[in-house]
Amino acid sequence: MTAKDASKVPIEDLTAAQAKAELARLAEEIARHDRLYYQEDMPQISDAAYDALRQRNEAIEARFPELIRLDSPSRRVGIAPAKGFAQVRHSVAMLSLANAFHDEDVHEFFARVRRFLGLDSADPVEVVAEPKIDGLSASLRYEDGRFVQGATRGDGRVGEDITRNLATIRDLPIRLQGDDLPKVVEVRGEVYMRREDFFAMNAEREEAGEPPFANPRNAGAGSVRQLDPTITAARPLHFFAYAWGEMSEPAGDSYWHFLDRLKGWGFQVNPYARLCSDAEAALTLYREVMGARAELPYDIDGVVYKVNRLDWQDRLGFVSRAPRWAVAHKFPAERALTVLEKITIQVGRTGALTPVANLQPVTVGGVVVSRATLHNEDEIARKDIREGDTVVIQRAGDVIPQVVEVIEDKRPKGSKPFVFPERCPVCDSQAVREAGEAVRRCTGGLICPAQRLERLKHFVSRNAFDIEGLGAKHIEAFLEDGLIATPGDIFRLRDHAADIEGREGWGAQSVENLVAAIEDRRRIALERFVYALGIRQVGEATARLLAAQYGSLEGLRSAMDAAQDRDGEAYAELLNIDGVGPSVADDLLGFFAEAHNREILDDLANELEIEDFEAPEAASPISGKTVVFTGGLDTMTRSEAKARAEALGAKVAGSVSKKTDYVVVGADAGSKAKKAAELGLATLTEEEWLALIAG
Ligand code: IVH
Repeated sequence: MTAKDASKVPIEDLTAAQAKAELARLAEEIARHDRLYYQEDMPQISDAAYDALRQRNEAIEARFPELIRLDSPSRRVGIAPAKGFAQVRHSVAMLSLANAFHDEDVHEFFARVRRFLGLDSADPVEVVAEPKIDGLSASLRYEDGRFVQGATRGDGRVGEDITRNLATIRDLPIRLQGDDLPKVVEVRGEVYMRREDFFAMNAEREEAGEPPFANPRNAGAGSVRQLDPTITAARPLHFFAYAWGEMSEPAGDSYWHFLDRLKGWGFQVNPYARLCSDAEAALTLYREVMGARAELPYDIDGVVYKVNRLDWQDRLGFVSRAPRWAVAHKFPAERALTVLEKITIQVGRTGALTPVANLQPVTVGGVVVSRATLHNEDEIARKDIREGDTVVIQRAGDVIPQVVEVIEDKRPKGSKPFVFPERCPVCDSQAVREAGEAVRRCTGGLICPAQRLERLKHFVSRNAFDIEGLGAKHIEAFLEDGLIATPGDIFRLRDHAADIEGREGWGAQSVENLVAAIEDRRRIALERFVYALGIRQVGEATARLLAAQYGSLEGLRSAMDAAQDRDGEAYAELLNIDGVGPSVADDLLGFFAEAHNREILDDLANELEIEDFEAPEAASPISGKTVVFTGGLDTMTRSEAKARAEALGAKVAGSVSKKTDYVVVGADAGSKAKKAAELGLATLTEEEWLALIAG
């Protein structure tokens, strides 16, 4: 076996050469995950998998202490600060905590404290027990009661200056309250995001096409490390205080009393903190908190016990990177075995089909889990997850439970691989996958109840129908009460005037105004109309290109019907529009092929007067002409040239055909210029082109 294969070898069987290779691999691997986690806030592996790497590293080091590397992960806490923020040297290091996993570990903690202090087993050792918040620790420096600097933990000694970001958090007093204020105090604690806010924020990110955060902790960390504090300000962050760093006077006699001081200064202190007289009382609180865990609005991953007497804390001091006076009692590994009964498909607001594992309910880390995400169809295929399988469920810091793996030995006889549906389970429209995308999407759009609300909101939005007095809120309420279901219904709302008038916030006058505003929009320009349909990837610019190319709704519809034949001329013509590629074409053709959408179009065509596309500045010499640009231009970029041509009413095509009117040939033009010559088309130099459009 080569040293390279050592990653699978049990620690007790490793040769020294293999151990050396393993330590090198682990140092690199852990450093990479640290970077992903701390600097990019995008971890690629679960906390459990990360812990396993660290544990393996430590176990190998315990067996081969002479091989411990200078850059060993065991010598580091967290990671050095990322670029972009100034550094802050912590005058009192920000340390980590030792972990306890079992009740015995907790008893052993109390015994150790007693031994260290030379106490009798009968001497009481009081501790304060409080939840361990799964967030990001921060240190807040106050001078004369004023917040002057805030920093991340960084590597424990040097963190990042995130003062301006932290200042946006409302739980953080900019000025301390009360009159027992130390000249200098660094208050430490945890920045965190509530689960509910995290979900809402992720939904918005997905809407905007941004990658979602894995869990509230990463979302919080990502938010606090924004270089632009206005972004942090818009993120719902909170702060629990639980420690201090530098302080110009003694903190007091007890931690319990210090928590009162923190509250008095205006900080939030965790409401579950309890003063416990012994290990049993501490364990009781642990179980209470574990039971309440699911209902807490934020994530926690254990309970911290801290020796209450501060003189004892001083005497106990620190070992390596953790205090002797505290321990983090972690919640049990959040994995469990259960049976996956059924795979169902959820349809999101944007039409994305998400497979969900419906499980035999099982407790995972104190929380009953009956559903887990399966991400997408590739993930199901990759892990070969089937209905009836016994699966390992994990509910790590990651809030959404995941299916980690399948226990294949327990697979029932005759089970079949899961077949991902190709139709939407909500509205039965076709669900399609675009090239290079993992997600399958419902093409039902306006008729799909899962998507209807968002689509209707889009339909009336400012750059679409823009009906005065009919905002997203009204659409939501009217849809809920059955006054509207399709876009066409909006134009029949006048028949419901009496119903609307009876509703809260509406009077005779406002209903009259609404009806008038709707009437006002019965005439609409083709490009606005196309945009309002909310076809995926068809924004305003593409809608305009389509309007320019096909002129009328009838023209567009018959062209789309013809283009369903991917070998025909109509399809080629569609792709030849500069700005329409195969993926946009797929979405367009999918939309027009769907029977439901055709009904909606018929209905709207009945209600509306859709104006044919009118080329602006009809006097322009290139209005209505088709232009192709090839080669580089000197006086402007290609996009600018294209925008200008379009503004003058020309259609810009991507390739040369019989229908091309002008080919503008720039520097280093290639095959297009050749083709133009072959077809005997008029070619223009850049200068000639500029002269043409100037005239
Ligand atoms: S006390 C010197 N109390 O857990 C010890 N830490 O694993 C200072 N944490 O870096 C830490 N909740 O980010 C303490 N109630 C709590 C905590 C807590 C969360 C975090 C903190 C620390 C990490 C250690």
